[in-house]
Formats: sequence, structure tokens, C-alpha cells
Amino acid sequence: MKLLTLTAASAALATAQAQQVSCPDYLDYAKEYHAPFSTGRYNLSYQRPDPACRTAASPALDGVIADMQSKVADPDLYRLFVNSFPNTLDTAIRWQGVAANNSAEELAFIITGDINAMWLRDSSNQMLSYLSFLKNASTPVFASLYRGVLNLQARYIQTSPLCNSFQPPVESGINASLNQYALTDEVYPPYSNLSVFECKYELDSIASFLELSSAYYTATSDIDFFRNFQWVSAVQTVLNVATVMRDTPTYTPKGMVNQSPYTFQRDTTSASETLLNMGIGSPVKGGTGLVRSAFRPSDDSTIYQLFIPANMQFATHLNGTSTIMSQLGHADLASQMKTMATSIRAAIEKRAVVTDETYGKIYAFEIDGCGSSNIMDDANIPSLLAAPVYGYTSDMYGSSNQIYQNTRAKILSDENPYFMEGPVINAVGGPHQGPGMAWPMANIVRILTSENQTEISTALREIVSSTDGYGLIHESINTFNVSDWTREWFSWANGLFGQAILDLEGRMPEVLMESYQ
Ligand SMILES: *[C@@H]1O[C@H](CO)[C@@H](O)[C@H](O)[C@H]1NC(C)=O
Ligand SMILES: *[C@@H]1O[C@H](CO)[C@@H](O)[C@H](O)[C@H]1NC(C)=O
Ligand SMILES: *[C@@H]1O[C@H](CO)[C@@H](O)[C@H](O)[C@H]1NC(C)=O
Ligand SMILES: *[C@@H]1O[C@H](CO)[C@@H](O)[C@H](O)[C@H]1NC(C)=O
Ligand SMILES: *[C@@H]1O[C@H](CO)[C@@H](O)[C@H](O)[C@H]1NC(C)=O
Ligand SMILES: *[C@@H]1O[C@H](CO)[C@@H](O)[C@H](O)[C@H]1NC(C)=O
Ligand SMILES: *[C@@H]1O[C@H](CO)[C@@H](O)[C@H](O)[C@H]1NC(C)=O
Ligand SMILES: *[C@@H]1O[C@H](CO)[C@@H](O)[C@H](O)[C@H]1NC(C)=O
Repeated sequence: MKLLTLTAASAALATAQAQQVSCPDYLDYAKEYHAPFSTGRYNLSYQRPDPACRTAASPALDGVIADMQSKVADPDLYRLFVNSFPNTLDTAIRWQGVAANNSAEELAFIITGDINAMWLRDSSNQMLSYLSFLKNASTPVFASLYRGVLNLQARYIQTSPLCNSFQPPVESGINASLNQYALTDEVYPPYSNLSVFECKYELDSIASFLELSSAYYTATSDIDFFRNFQWVSAVQTVLNVATVMRDTPTYTPKGMVNQSPYTFQRDTTSASETLLNMGIGSPVKGGTGLVRSAFRPSDDSTIYQLFIPANMQFATHLNGTSTIMSQLGHADLASQMKTMATSIRAAIEKRAVVTDETYGKIYAFEIDGCGSSNIMDDANIPSLLAAPVYGYTSDMYGSSNQIYQNTRAKILSDENPYFMEGPVINAVGGPHQGPGMAWPMANIVRILTSENQTEISTALREIVSSTDGYGLIHESINTFNVSDWTREWFSWANGLFGQAILDLEGRMPEVLMESYQ
């Protein structure tokens, strides 16, 4: 059964590679308008590549896209869904194959879109958009991709556990991409640019590996997958990283400066692209039980290293994957995972909750353990807004968590220094593209975490009306100028939009029958 799948996949791959030659670069394709245009006022382009140029295919996914036509009344909203949901499958599956030393070990190299490298966070999220297909045994392409991504991530984590973005595996025969920004980076510990594209230590990178692992196991119960390849040793590495990053604060108890487990300096004009204090970042107090992170999921540096959203995500999925570890018979590791998850969660509730004058108890975005906190949110996931999306709250909308609800209300107001307002779109942004640039991704998260139909349709309306005719989800948009946006090809955000539409179809179908003209 598995052999058959692999053979079929390789044949499809060979065909695709043979045809690749005549296929336009999607980087260019996504910047041009293509007929047929949608019939609504936004006249949205058709942005799916020619079937022969798609990097992977799934009849089941195409079936869902066709089926949604009768469930999404607005022609522009439907077109946006058609273009965005399959974007990872259509454009970002750069290579699929097997490990050189084990033909049963699937590998999949998934690029972010416009950058020819695989981020741990992006690739996890790109797969998570297709989670609903995993349970369908007659749709094997997704399960194979999940396994391929997890195996490659496990390899990356063991090779360079503090890095965030990686080069193609040697088996692919694809050359490493030059990262001009990273050429002068001074990073400890050192890494090889043949396997690493960028080495920013982000706690959410390793948390995303755990999240994807948990999702695959929950959907498939395929315990043998976790037994047969590198998963256990990768998780052991993750635990080692988290332990060191929890237990190595800036100073020893006697006040000496610790040797930092990670340092990063870049020759840059951007303050958020390098670390303070000669590469170690702002001082962090020990004994908090929280895990440090040098960078955020935006790849911007943290102001205070006890970055709360990544601690939330990490605790949640360390706990979730401890079940897998115990099924594998590694009782010691499983109990270590559960204990650490419980203590991080307790530390968040004890140390990261601050009292706001207007909103009451809220979660801080970052703290330093000395009493300083950074109150804001950033569009990238994990964010505070997305806590229910990655499972930190006990229900899907965080409605039973009053601290989350207070935090959410503050984040979606002008008391979040990175909430962007304007006539084009109102959404959380972040320092990565700067003030004035709102991120549609944050409005997608707003939809996923809301039970309020007015709030959901307002956010949808803004997303549909702000693609500048391209019918794709861009990274950020100037809230006063719809033609000023960043990243024509950002696969993760596109998949996330499709996921949100399918989610609404299940729980609030009437919102998809509204007009967004
Ligand atoms: C839709 O956009 C395309 C590309 O810009 C343009 O050629 C076409 O005339 C537009 N159609 C309408 C009805 O505005
Ligand atoms: C599973 O995938 C098959 C093959 O693409 C499709 O025909 C079927 O409708 C899917 N089943 C479900 C429950 O989605
Ligand atoms: C393949 O190589 C990896 C990395 O060197 C190693 O950990 C793994 O055990 C090898 N697998 C087999 C089946 O030899
Ligand atoms: C890959 O790198 C090799 C060695 O530098 C070079 O000869 C080859 O042309 C490159 N291949 C591609 C597809 O760029
Ligand atoms: C790797 O680093 C070397 C030395 O700085 C540089 O010459 C080379 O171009 C880099 N390769 C890539 C793929 O970044
Ligand atoms: C771990 O998972 C169990 C079962 O879902 C749950 O009851 C517990 O609260 C979770 N603990 C943490 C720290 O997430
Ligand atoms: C629902 O959302 C709208 C728009 O954001 C807001 O004005 C309204 O107060 C919300 N209703 C509830 C019950 O929260
Ligand atoms: C809006 O942004 C576009 C693209 O950057 C630019 O060409 C145009 O001049 C801007 N319009 C205004 C009114 O600033």
C-alpha cells in the first residue's frame, strides 16, 4: 500500500519536473492578472497555475473547491477561496522524495512561496491548512506530505536545532539558495549554509514541529510513523533546547554573565534584525520557568525574550505529543514532556498576566522576568490573538478564558501599538513591515477566534476588498492605499484563509451566503 503510493508520487513528480521547464515562475505569475476574472465589483484574477504546472495535485481538494461554489454566494469571495486554498499544493511543494539511506523515510521540501527555503513554522502551518483531508484514507497525498515534512523537520532540528529556515535536502539535488542578508551574520553556535538558510532562534519553530506531529497523530493514529524514523531523537533535541533556554538566564545567581547558549548579530540598518547587547538580547531573569526566544514568528527580534505566545504554543503541544511518546513506550521522556508543559503553563498564568487599567487582567506579549512587560500583539502566528487557534485555550474561541477575552479586546483596539486602522483594512500588523501596514493574516485569525457574525463578516469584507485585484492573500497592506502591499506569493496566509472559509462553512454557513460587494 505504502510502496504503491510512493511509486505513484514519484511518477507524478517526474511528470511535473519534465513539464516544469515551460512553466512560468509563480513569483512573476502572481504579479500578473489572469482571465477569467470574477464577476463581482473586485474583478479578481484567476491565480491558480495551469494544472500541468502545479507542484502537487489532489482530486479531493479540487472536489472541495468545486463543492464550495454553491456554498459561497459572493463571486469575489468564492474566487479568493479558489485561488488561495490550494496555493501550497499548487505552488510550494518544491520536492518530494525519500531519504538516501532509507527508502521508507518520506521527505518533503516545502517552500514559503517567494523565498526558496523551508521554514519550520511556515511548513507546519502550510500543512495544517489541509488537516481536514488527513482522515480521508483515499486521499493519500496529504498524509504523505505530512510525513515528508515531519521527517525533514526532524532532520533539520537535529542538525541545527536553533535555526528557523533551511535549505533543500541533499537528496533533492536542488542547490542551496543564497541568503544575502545572512552572509555576514555572526551566530553562535555556528551552522553550515549548505543546510541552513537562516539561523534565528525562535521557540515557535520547534513548537510548530510538535504541533504538526500532534495533528498528524490525532488524525491518523499512525504510531508506527513516529517509531520508525527520527522523531524520538528530534523530540529529545527539542527538550534539550527548551531546557537550556529555560535554565540559562543572563546572569548566574552570583551576578556573573552566563555564557549565552545563543548569540546572533547581523550587519543591518533594521533594529529588529539583530540582537542587543552584542548578540545576547535583553537580559532575562532566571527561575521563571519560561523558555527564552531570541526572535518572534515574524523573524523580528524579541524586545524581552520570554515571548509568551511561543511559550503557550510550546506548552500546549509538548503536552499533546507526550501522548505519542508514551504510546511509543518512552515513559521517561513522556513524563519529562508532560512535566515541562505543565510548569510552563503555570509560569505563563503566574508571571505573564498583568493588569490593564481599561481591560483588566491580560496576557503580556513578552516579559523579562524582572517586572518589565511588552504589551502588544503581532500578526504572525503564534500571536496572543491566535491562542485558541493553536490550542492554548480549552475551547475554540477562548470564550471560557476571561484573560484571553480581555487580551483580545485590547489587541483589537488602538491600545495595541501595532493595530492598524484605515479605510482599506483594519487589522493587527507588526514591526516586520512597520506601522501603517495591516496583515490580512491577523484578520483571518480574528475570524477563526470569533463567534460574532458581524465581526466575522466585517473582517471578511475587508479581506475580499483589499487584494488589489489579484485574489491572493498578501502579507501586509497599507491601510490607506490598497495598491501598496507586500509579498505576492505567501503560501501560508493563503492556506489559512481557505481553512477559515471551510471552518465557517461548518459552523456559520450563513456568513458565506452574504454579499461582500
Ligand atoms: C478586470 O481586470 C482586468 C485586468 O486588469 C481588465 O483587463 C478588465 O478590463 C477588468 N474588467 C472589468 C469588468 O473591470
Ligand atoms: C475522500 O477522498 C475521495 C477521493 O478524492 C473523495 O471522493 C471523497 O469524497 C472524500 N471523502 C470525504 C469524506 O471527504
Ligand atoms: C540515516 O542517516 C541518519 C543520519 O545520519 C541516521 O540517524 C539514521 O539512523 C540513518 N538511517 C538508517 C536506516 O540507516
Ligand atoms: C548548482 O550548483 C552547481 C555547482 O555550483 C552548478 O554547476 C549548477 O549549475 C547549479 N545548478 C543549478 C540548477 O543552478
Ligand atoms: C555560504 O557562505 C559562503 C561563505 O560566506 C559563501 O561564499 C556562499 O555563497 C554561501 N552559500 C550560500 C548558499 O549561502
Ligand atoms: C495536557 O493535556 C491534557 C489532556 O488533554 C489536559 O487535561 C491538560 O490540561 C494539558 N496540560 C497542559 C499543560 O497543556
Ligand atoms: C459583534 O461585533 C460587532 C463588530 O465588531 C460589535 O460592534 C458588537 O458589539 C459585537 N457583539 C457582541 C455581542 O460582542
Ligand atoms: C499607492 O501605492 C502604489 C504602489 O506602491 C503607488 O504606486 C501609488 O503611488 C500609491 N498611491 C498613493 C496615492 O500614494
